[in-house]
Amino acid sequence: MTRREGIVLGLETTCDETSAALLDGGEVRSLVIHSQDVHRLYGGVVPELAAREHLARVDAVVDAALDDADLDVSDVEAVAVAAGPGLIGALLVGVVWAKSFAFARGVPTVAVHHMEAHLFAPLLDHPDLAPPFVALLVSGGHTLLLHVEDWGRYVLLGETRDDAAGEAFDKVAKLLGFPYPGGPEIERAAGIGDPTGRRLPRPLLRGGTAEDDPDYFDFSFSGLKTATALWVDELRAQGSLEGARADVAAAFQDAAIETLVGKTERAVEATGVGLVSLGGGVSVNKALRARMRERLEGKAGVVHASPRYSLDNGAMIARAGAFRLMVDGPSPLSTAARADLPFPGLRPRRSAA
Ligand code: KG4
Ligand code: ZN
Repeated sequence: MTRREGIVLGLETTCDETSAALLDGGEVRSLVIHSQDVHRLYGGVVPELAAREHLARVDAVVDAALDDADLDVSDVEAVAVAAGPGLIGALLVGVVWAKSFAFARGVPTVAVHHMEAHLFAPLLDHPDLAPPFVALLVSGGHTLLLHVEDWGRYVLLGETRDDAAGEAFDKVAKLLGFPYPGGPEIERAAGIGDPTGRRLPRPLLRGGTAEDDPDYFDFSFSGLKTATALWVDELRAQGSLEGARADVAAAFQDAAIETLVGKTERAVEATGVGLVSLGGGVSVNKALRARMRERLEGKAGVVHASPRYSLDNGAMIARAGAFRLMVDGPSPLSTAARADLPFPGLRPRRSAA
């Protein structure tokens, strides 16, 4: 993807980050991320508050991104916006803003799928990243294992049956009394804890040993969360929770990572590709990255974006938007925000042959 793609403004408002970035021919000129602190009070994202905060911040965030890039609104050649999946009120702010801007300035707008943007994020750090590869996309709302045959051509190998990986980290953090978002808190606590205190379940890892078994590539995190919750209840009843929090975090993280790595290893073996790309907020977890590398040593290389491009951000939206603009052209002004936007170019495994 070396063709000049012009200056693209990327806008992200799917959840609790208001973010804008300017991408110039594939290079990030600026990235501004406003993380909404208001949700900390509630231990999770409150959709209505998220929408209001996006509305209050979006202009300032875009202005700051333009300033940082030393660009003017008239330099923007296209606007890419995350149109879903996500919280509908939050999405609406970004989509309506982007369409209004595009209409007023006479530039194209392009609707981007938030998870396809996570897939494109590593390209910001590694411009030579090229399919085929296996992608593990792990965020607060999704857990997807893909065979990326080409940019825009994806086979869905596995997904979660219930909670997303990040959601499990957030819920366990809440059980342990850590603030939202829980992923970084669990990682920090796990770093000083003993993971061997209790062996928590590794869901869907032992059964389903054949590729055509429906459990083979799928994930499930709600059983692991429940097992952790029961342990936390026991510890609380014994009055020993405080001193055991790091050990619980370590045992939980170990089980979650084991599942993510085990399924990814299966995907590498089944597809025969020699590269794995990690994306989404959970992919900043250093223990996950390290364990993935260790396990795939000699089988596949592992790439991921730097943390600022892995967590929700406007640069990944601009990057995926530049691609979509190139292959599909601009989105019509009738484009709507969709909480359940389908992943473009994704087809199920059964029809892959
Ligand atoms: O991709 P992302 O920024 O937003 C969504 O699209 O959801 O991912 C956020 C998720 C949250 O669940 C958060 O707890 C998790 O990523 N996360 C982590 C870490 N940092 C963020 N999970 C595990 N370890 C981390 N260090
Ligand atoms: Zn995300």
